[in-house]
Amino acid sequence: MKYSVNKASSSLTNSDDCIVVPVFCVKNKAVLHTAAKQIDEASNGAIIQFIETGDFTGKSEQIQMLYQLEGVSAPRVLLVGCGDQDKFTTKALDTVTKKACKTVKDSNIKSLSFYLADTFTGKMAEQASTQIILAHADSTYSLDDYKSKDESDDDKNDTLETISIAFSSKIDADVTTAVSHGAGIAKGMKLSRDLANHPGNVCTPTYIADIAKTVADDFSNISLDVLEEADMEKLGMGAFLSVSKGSDEPGKMIVLEYKGAKDKSQAPVALVGKGVTFDTGGISLKPGASMDEMKFDMSGAASMLGTLKACAEMQLPVNLVVVLAAAENMPSGRATKPGDIVTSMAGKTIEVLNTDAEGRLVLCDALTYVGKYKPAVVIDTATLTGACIIALGHHICAVLSNDDALASDIIDAGNTINDRAWQLPIGEDYKKQLKSAFADLGNIGGRPAGTITAACFLAEFTKEYKWAHIDIAGTAWTGKDSTGRPVPLLSQYLINYVK
Ligand code: BES
Ligand code: MN
Ligand code: ZN
Repeated sequence: MKYSVNKASSSLTNSDDCIVVPVFCVKNKAVLHTAAKQIDEASNGAIIQFIETGDFTGKSEQIQMLYQLEGVSAPRVLLVGCGDQDKFTTKALDTVTKKACKTVKDSNIKSLSFYLADTFTGKMAEQASTQIILAHADSTYSLDDYKSKDESDDDKNDTLETISIAFSSKIDADVTTAVSHGAGIAKGMKLSRDLANHPGNVCTPTYIADIAKTVADDFSNISLDVLEEADMEKLGMGAFLSVSKGSDEPGKMIVLEYKGAKDKSQAPVALVGKGVTFDTGGISLKPGASMDEMKFDMSGAASMLGTLKACAEMQLPVNLVVVLAAAENMPSGRATKPGDIVTSMAGKTIEVLNTDAEGRLVLCDALTYVGKYKPAVVIDTATLTGACIIALGHHICAVLSNDDALASDIIDAGNTINDRAWQLPIGEDYKKQLKSAFADLGNIGGRPAGTITAACFLAEFTKEYKWAHIDIAGTAWTGKDSTGRPVPLLSQYLINYVK
């Protein structure tokens, strides 16, 4: 796909297969902006006459293709309802662009121009440009590796070759950058989604390490180091190893370094991901219903690898350390049992009261390990708790942090790119729930506030640096498909970080 931005000469002489014009709704009436007005005048009021039928008011998600308008070179004009102009947010923009992309997908259109005209200016123009690219990438995504040709749903008619985004005002460098950022983030999201969508018999810790190697090979400023179980044994990572112990698939701690900053010794941002490639629960076995979805339990690791790829595509001037804690959680004769006590790399002893609370066990050693890089900031992502779905559903990620300013930066980045997050508290009151009769910590805190007590567990291992934890249990996949979240949020955070 070729994406470009340009200053629109005139919507009338544009010879693309289709031009998309936004129409807003003010007091239940459609309002036309520059491009739509131009087209309406050239076509003897074709748009106004259509609106006067009463079928189109510019409400969000209304969509109408008009063909062969007089005085317009493009054979198709797609009117897209954008809803109330005052309430137009990145979320509304995402909804309407996805709708437009879906309509286009079902057609024979090869070249498409979005006429953002005078509708979007400044920051909104940047956001719109990125959003269009992400919405388009989403509307064409699928993982087809496992379907025979004649079994695959053939509604995919990807004829589209170019998307241009046309502005009536002058284009500043920031909009051009926003387009290249959108393309980079889309690539990172695709990598993340592919990885998470692969089944557990393919996507093992070894497979994640192999994919990490392909990313490292693609960029000269990324290096890779994989810690094997023997290495982790030497480092004293007893918490991580207690999870992979029951599985025949060897666990891996995958470490990637991206040197993008001018100063190669600048303190890095560390990104740590939970990479449980299948979570059966271990001896505390999960019930059978929907257990297949636990192949997505490596989505944290997938999102961090995707974010790394996005940053490398954008060549962001930042240093990153990415740690993927990859293990399979299985029951077996060698598996960890409830009540077993293990010693973490940090030296704290942990009573494993429930082997299904394994995410925090693989993460705590990864979080201790990453401390040696003296990171400026550490962010981890994990499908950590079912309780997060109860708290926030499938729309918003949870953020928990030992630094409120960091949490706000993460939330702001999410709002900018429509990949939203919401802060939950941590603190002493909740930490008490993790008390163990025999060890320094228990690995569970009971039913109340499960997302918070999980974060409190991690907080015991992150005291040396600024840290935020993002629980993506509700947002990493919907139905049966990975969403690629929160690659957009993390990428936007890093874009803002380097500014
Ligand atoms: N991977 C799960 C969390 C999860 C469950 C994510 C469902 C998405 C959907 C995690 O390892 C887990 O099993 N957590 C337990 C913790 C409990 C034992 C304290 C949970 O949430 O039930
Ligand atoms: Mn679990
Ligand atoms: Zn899990």
